[in-house]
Amino acid sequence: MEERKILLREDEMPRQWYNILADIAMNPPLGPDGNPISPDMLAPVFPMNLIEQEVSQERWIDIPEKVLGILKIWRPSPMVRARSLEKALGTPARIYFKNESLSPPGSHKPNTSVAQAYYNKEFGIKRMTTETGAGQWGSALAFACAHFGIECKVFMVRISFDQKPYRKSMMATWGANCVPSPSMETRAGQAALEKDPNTPGSLGIAISEAIEAAVSDESGQTRYSLGSVLNHVMLHQTIVGLEAKKQMEKINEYPDIIIGCAGGGSNFAGLAFPFVYDKIHGRQIEIYPVEPAGCPTLTRAPFVYDHGDTAKYTPLLPMHSLGHAFVPPPFHAGGLRYHGMAPTVSQLVNEGIITPKSVKQRQVFEAGVLLARTEGIIPAPETNHALAAVIEEANKAKEEGKEKVILFNWSGHGLLDLTAYENYFAGNIKDIELAEAEMAEAMKVFAGHPKPQNLKTAK
Ligand SMILES: Cc1ncc(COP(=O)(O)O)c(C=O)c1O
Repeated sequence: MEERKILLREDEMPRQWYNILADIAMNPPLGPDGNPISPDMLAPVFPMNLIEQEVSQERWIDIPEKVLGILKIWRPSPMVRARSLEKALGTPARIYFKNESLSPPGSHKPNTSVAQAYYNKEFGIKRMTTETGAGQWGSALAFACAHFGIECKVFMVRISFDQKPYRKSMMATWGANCVPSPSMETRAGQAALEKDPNTPGSLGIAISEAIEAAVSDESGQTRYSLGSVLNHVMLHQTIVGLEAKKQMEKINEYPDIIIGCAGGGSNFAGLAFPFVYDKIHGRQIEIYPVEPAGCPTLTRAPFVYDHGDTAKYTPLLPMHSLGHAFVPPPFHAGGLRYHGMAPTVSQLVNEGIITPKSVKQRQVFEAGVLLARTEGIIPAPETNHALAAVIEEANKAKEEGKEKVILFNWSGHGLLDLTAYENYFAGNIKDIELAEAEMAEAMKVFAGHPKPQNLKTAK
């Protein structure tokens, strides 16, 4: 009988995360004076145990037993051979995916929210704040906080809040409080509403609100949590790629191509980084982060020092950025509407170790519908970006008559994103491409920022 799922037992779960900082060259984050920040400068925002992880150069970091215990609710996640898709495309490629849609909140996000809630609890934190774009991250933190008895407050980007009201109900069920962003609760939210009362919101604005809400709590018992971009988030997600490596080994396969959608970079990094290690050490693999043409951070924006949020509360990070004040067009993949990108992912693109691609909205939904009708799972609109690239690569393999092995990350399901699918079927989804003039305008904010060095990773 043909196998579909490649499974690991619970006792085969990885016991350590892989930290790519041990293997690549990085520019440091900078403070307002242009000098590298010290860990204590981040202390009002994050607990010190997570800050230590953020700057750690250790290649392998132990996953705490308590974290593993909660991850076991849905991990190890299956690696699935997409046989029905292969058949539908008539491709000689063998296509595999990690199914991260099986977590209770519906995506890869709890791989880090559980770890972050754990470290906050260990540090004595009572309340956590965060932003959410698609609603997946807010749900993931709500789920994790419920496990550790931590209060949770979520600022959800306005357009997503309106598009998917049940995400708020989901967060409420896990005990969290979710409000639309921009809100009147913070100075950053008030400023954004003053500028444009009808703004769809952005992740940049929502991050500012969540940071402000954390640091302004005078009890000192609130911290902020970010669902992507930072090094410790990429670290926690590597459990995906480490599991995939073991699963590939079990069937004597190794990927030629790795694909993940990229908003802030975390699901892509989680799958890809353990394989990037192999590539740095001589293996031939094509590795593609895929982003929307409407928010082309990696494919069209420069590698600069920029803030991670609109109100400039974060340090300057070395990353590909469209400018911290940029409000991406309101397309249907809230988790990919981010102006910046993880510094680690940006650095790898800058060095040519990974190669970004961008795809347009209609191609993205066409791919999602094909996958739903073949593999059965209705994908999150963010995931659809990866799927569009998978189909392109599978068709290329067919044209070339090559038996390529493609591995991708199915980052989440779209069961609370059905409005987007309805809009697609009604013909209301348009291809959005960012105009040069709009990009040039957004990038004026870089004036006066220092420039990152062109560092080269030793191989
Ligand atoms: C299902 C899903 N996939 C992907 C992303 C993009 O985030 P990241 O690039 O950090 O994986 C999101 C973000 O909200 C998401 O919800």
